[in-house]
Amino acid sequence: MTRGVAIVTGAGRGVGRATAERLARGGYVVVTGVRDLDRAREEYGKQPGIQLVQLDVTNPAHIADAVALAHDFADGPIDLLVNNAGYAMMGAQENGDLVAAREMFETNLWGAAAMVQAVVPAMREAGRGTVVTVSSIGARLTNPLVGFYHASKYALNALSEALSMEVGHFGVRVIMIEPGMIATDFPKATVLTGNVTDPDSPYAPLFGDLRAGFGAWRERDDASTAESCAEVIWNAVNDPHAPIRIVVGDDAAELDRAVRESADDHEFQERLRGFLKLDWPPAPPAA
Ligand SMILES: NC(=O)c1ccc[n+]([C@@H]2O[C@H](COP(=O)([O-])OP(=O)(O)OC[C@H]3O[C@@H](n4cnc5c(N)ncnc54)[C@H](OP(=O)(O)O)[C@@H]3O)[C@@H](O)[C@H]2O)c1
Repeated sequence: MTRGVAIVTGAGRGVGRATAERLARGGYVVVTGVRDLDRAREEYGKQPGIQLVQLDVTNPAHIADAVALAHDFADGPIDLLVNNAGYAMMGAQENGDLVAAREMFETNLWGAAAMVQAVVPAMREAGRGTVVTVSSIGARLTNPLVGFYHASKYALNALSEALSMEVGHFGVRVIMIEPGMIATDFPKATVLTGNVTDPDSPYAPLFGDLRAGFGAWRERDDASTAESCAEVIWNAVNDPHAPIRIVVGDDAAELDRAVRESADDHEFQERLRGFLKLDWPPAPPAA
């Protein structure tokens, strides 16, 4: 039985691919947006329900073509949009590359916004549909040297929160997924800018510390997998009572508690330093 038509962005690998495959197994026709169509054809093979399409979310023509294809399969509006495409950038703010940061925003924020503009009008007119934003627990807290990425996810959450209030009234649901660490190739795709990798950089000790902290975090057995995230998305889409915001993984829940329970930002930063085992000293107390 066909459950409906979905579009998933950033489905070349990782969470996007696992989500596209989970939705297809569950009966959706999934317009599966990938940047490298040849690679995806090889890696996906033939799978019922998977319709591969070239979709770089920074390319308006790709968006128009992907949405037109999805509408060809749908009787009415597209049932589900999963805005997943995204990547990170690391760099100190004093010299991180702002051109690279703007490019990242084009994908993480403006690409997602353009997908919403392409899909939501038909959902609103039909009075049904779901938009899933793959955000991050890093849309509620920040790590040093990752500020540009967090800024893009904070902004994405702001748009999604506002969207949920704009379109909920018309019967369109918005769900934000906020995972902690997910074991994917995400770190390999992370763009390093500025001088963080220079051993003489004043930020080199922090960078080394952070890499070790992220590495140990990835080894935790409560970190999510692409498949477990996809399962959370599947369950949320199928649960009419799903909350607007879903924290994914015990690691993310721990960080979420640290944000909510800390008396002030200093206490939160201390808890985060403990979580990541950072030696990097905090700001000295005021004299
Ligand atoms: N991994 C984590 O720890 C983690 C934690 C919290 C949130 N997230 C979020 O989860 C989402 C998925 O990440 P992941 O872990 O699955 O990472 P991933 O394995 O690196 O996959 C990211 C996917 O996004 C695609 N992509 C990048 N830029 C794009 C663009 N302009 N247009 C379309 N697709 C684009 C990549 O395409 P190519 O295959 O062509 O490179 C890739 O398929 C991201 O939004 C990320 O911010 C990840």
